[in-house]
Amino acid sequence: MTNQQTLPLPMALNMTLGESLAKRRTGRAFRANALTDDELSTLLWACAGLTGDEGRRTVPSTLNLKAVSVWVLRDDGTWRYDPAKNQLTRSTTTDCRRASTTHQFDFVTKAPVTLAFVLDHDVANTIRESCFYVDAGTMGQSAYLAATALGLSGCIRASFDHKALGEAMALPDNLEPILMFTVGLPEGK
Ligand SMILES: Cc1cc2nc3c(=O)[nH]c(=O)nc-3n(C[C@H](O)[C@H](O)[C@H](O)COP(=O)(O)O)c2cc1C
Repeated sequence: MTNQQTLPLPMALNMTLGESLAKRRTGRAFRANALTDDELSTLLWACAGLTGDEGRRTVPSTLNLKAVSVWVLRDDGTWRYDPAKNQLTRSTTTDCRRASTTHQFDFVTKAPVTLAFVLDHDVANTIRESCFYVDAGTMGQSAYLAATALGLSGCIRASFDHKALGEAMALPDNLEPILMFTVGLPEGK
């Protein structure tokens, strides 16, 4: 079993920003179909992709620390997104989607992917924690807009047990999942 996956280059997002903003909605009804690698790569790029020298990204980050990373939860395990290599690295083969909610099991376990935004407390250090929730929020909005442009449905989620999910994802103590974005094809399409 391979523990690394190189993603294709992200696709162009051709919907206008105005249309994406106007069409963005939270969706909680998904088909179980997997995302294509093209779709996944594009969503991840929108959340944290590199856009120039010095490692700058599609999203802002507190003090340019980039203390929040993006992880992919799907049926074949938990994967960390490396924006520089456009690659996923698996940390565990456990399907952590169920552990990523306390009560919304119906749609969270059906949707093929949940993106987990994970804070590195070692990088954040003594800076006010709420700043990094803003980092994650900007990533979530990017995920919404990209999902809309790709014809996907998505739901940002904060109701989950951080400790239980961190354990399921086999994260070291300094890494804490702080926000989720569940995404897939909308039901009925
Ligand atoms: C910080 C935050 C946390 C949220 N947590 C959840 C959640 O745990 N579960 C859920 O189903 N929706 C969650 N939502 C989605 C909101 O319910 C949704 O955005 C709201 O009902 C407005 O709908 P809209 O996104 O379609 O405009 C959350 C939204 C935000 C901004």
